[in-house]
Amino acid sequence: MLEIKNNLREIGFEQIIELYNSVNWTAYTENPVKLKEALLNSSYVVYAIQDKKLVGLARSISDGVSIHYLQDILVHPDFHKQGIGRKLLENCLENFKEVRTHMILTDDEEKQIKFYESLGYTNTKNTSKIPLNAFVKMKDLNPSDF
Ligand SMILES: CC(C)(COP(=O)(O)OP(=O)(O)OC[C@H]1O[C@@H](n2cnc3c(N)ncnc32)[C@H](O)[C@@H]1OP(=O)(O)O)[C@@H](O)C(=O)NCCC(=O)NCCS
Repeated sequence: MLEIKNNLREIGFEQIIELYNSVNWTAYTENPVKLKEALLNSSYVVYAIQDKKLVGLARSISDGVSIHYLQDILVHPDFHKQGIGRKLLENCLENFKEVRTHMILTDDEEKQIKFYESLGYTNTKNTSKIPLNAFVKMKDLNPSDF
């Protein structure tokens, strides 16, 4: 049975590291102290448990009024395409349903585009009726690196 929960204290941090490693997010797992800090400083963390195993997690940053930013969403590869990612993101969106703008920055990959579009997000590349641009600035990267 799949359970969707949001009490981080109920899961061991080593399970979280294992999950982040399963999708090769080594930028996080190489520095577990920082990952823990990022999780604890998030506005909202929701996760999925299947038969006592942590199989997915999503975390949001929000002011609760104007912006809800989805920072991470990840599902263990053995459990992809089973609707778990959808349930996690729907849970975040429900939690911030009064917020005006929902944002996500993602790699330009077809499966991710499909995932976010299936959950009601619009790529700013396609906002032709209401022209919008998303801008990004990253530590350790210069504009010419993009
Ligand atoms: C992106 C991710 C979270 C999706 O989780 P998931 O549980 O596999 O997704 P779901 O089963 O809930 O899929 C929901 C919808 O997304 C789309 N989708 C998901 N995976 C897809 C794929 N590989 N190809 C095409 N569409 C896909 C489909 O529209 C799907 O709806 P459908 O099953 O009715 O067709 C998962 O692939 C993942 O953890 N990837 C590695 C980490 C990552 O890249 N996270 C996103 C960072 S921005």
